[in-house]
Amino acid sequence: MAHDQPNKNLHMQDSSTEFSAPVRALSHKGHGVVTHPDGRVLFVKGIWTGEVGRFRVSDRAKSYDNAELISLQERSSDRVTPPCAHVETCGGCPWMMVNEDAQARAKEQRITFLLDKNGIAVSERRPLLRSPDFFGYRNRAQFKTDGERIGYVSEGTNDLAPIDDCLILNPSMREILKGLRAQLPQSVWRPVGRFPWSFLDVDDQQTLKDVVPNQRRPFRQGNSAQNEQMKAWITKTLQDVAKDAPVIEAFCGSGNFTEALVQVGFKHILAAEVRGSAIEELRAKQMAGVQIMEINMSEKKVWQQLARQNPKARVLIVDPPREGLEERAGLFESLPLLEKIIYISCEPTTWARDLKDFQKSGWKVAHLTPLDMFPHTPHVELLTLLTR
Ligand SMILES: C[S@@+](CC[C@H](N)C(=O)[O-])C[C@H]1O[C@@H](n2cnc3c(N)ncnc32)[C@H](O)[C@@H]1O
Repeated sequence: MAHDQPNKNLHMQDSSTEFSAPVRALSHKGHGVVTHPDGRVLFVKGIWTGEVGRFRVSDRAKSYDNAELISLQERSSDRVTPPCAHVETCGGCPWMMVNEDAQARAKEQRITFLLDKNGIAVSERRPLLRSPDFFGYRNRAQFKTDGERIGYVSEGTNDLAPIDDCLILNPSMREILKGLRAQLPQSVWRPVGRFPWSFLDVDDQQTLKDVVPNQRRPFRQGNSAQNEQMKAWITKTLQDVAKDAPVIEAFCGSGNFTEALVQVGFKHILAAEVRGSAIEELRAKQMAGVQIMEINMSEKKVWQQLARQNPKARVLIVDPPREGLEERAGLFESLPLLEKIIYISCEPTTWARDLKDFQKSGWKVAHLTPLDMFPHTPHVELLTLLTR
């Protein structure tokens, strides 16, 4: 009998109903959070806290957790007209529709929320270090191309969103993008793998002829001015530490922070990294007093292995990827002389998880400076000092 079966049509009909609601908050991806009349919590792109909108849950929204904005019924005074023509299709700058102060406030609010939720006490918290350039700051990008068009892939899809320019790129990168566009159509960029595009990892230290499709480049901090601020923060934070104190720097990449540590006089640094290409670049720098260790920081007993090389480490610096410190077991037991930990994070959720653990082990967050690495996105970098 028909009514013995789950009625899929009824679900589709129900879920495509339009509704109006206020935006209660922003999600960790920076989307508006609204409540459907049936009680479901849904996420909506292109809307800001405090605004009221008319929404629709539809297949086009890709997931039943998402709704689409049909019209704005109450508009935030923080709204601005995004200067980028591709803002909706590209999706890389989901916050470009609000002003700089509103973006900064939202980043600060997310940190406060996570600190409160996890019961983390911070002795000294500085305001968000803003990017000197609100536009034109990005020194690297990963473009996608099918050989006919070039652009980015919209979040949560495999759809290529072509662009003719990108306003968050710095002037050199915009020139490179122009040069790449001039090469279209380009048969060597046609997709070969499982995705309908090839990727072009590009940064402003390259020339056009060095761009090779589908070849990842070692990690590089994406905003050069903010990278300088990060390095200055690290050296200032460690200014009172004796320069003969042994240091472990985990997730060191190609030695961006290592160079700053060497420059201020640290003489015993164990620099740990997993990616071969980053290690090659690090080795090529031939820094005195730096011992390089190729190691996967997610492995069991990783801290014991680091401690064997540098058992008297007094300073630990970690700058992990979004996953945070996945392997934390044995850290404090293996390194009993640690006095200071600098934790740089690009993902507040895993950062809060890890700080909560550190706090349980008797460490306190002595200082926090959040930094805006990528304006127009919800991304926030966290510069943290922990002490015993
Ligand atoms: C956020 S980047 C930081 C790099 C460096 N501090 C810098 O400023 O350029 C994170 C680094 O961790 C490395 N990494 C990622 N997963 C790792 C793992 N499981 N073990 C060791 N290193 C890892 C990446 O290759 C990358 O170089």
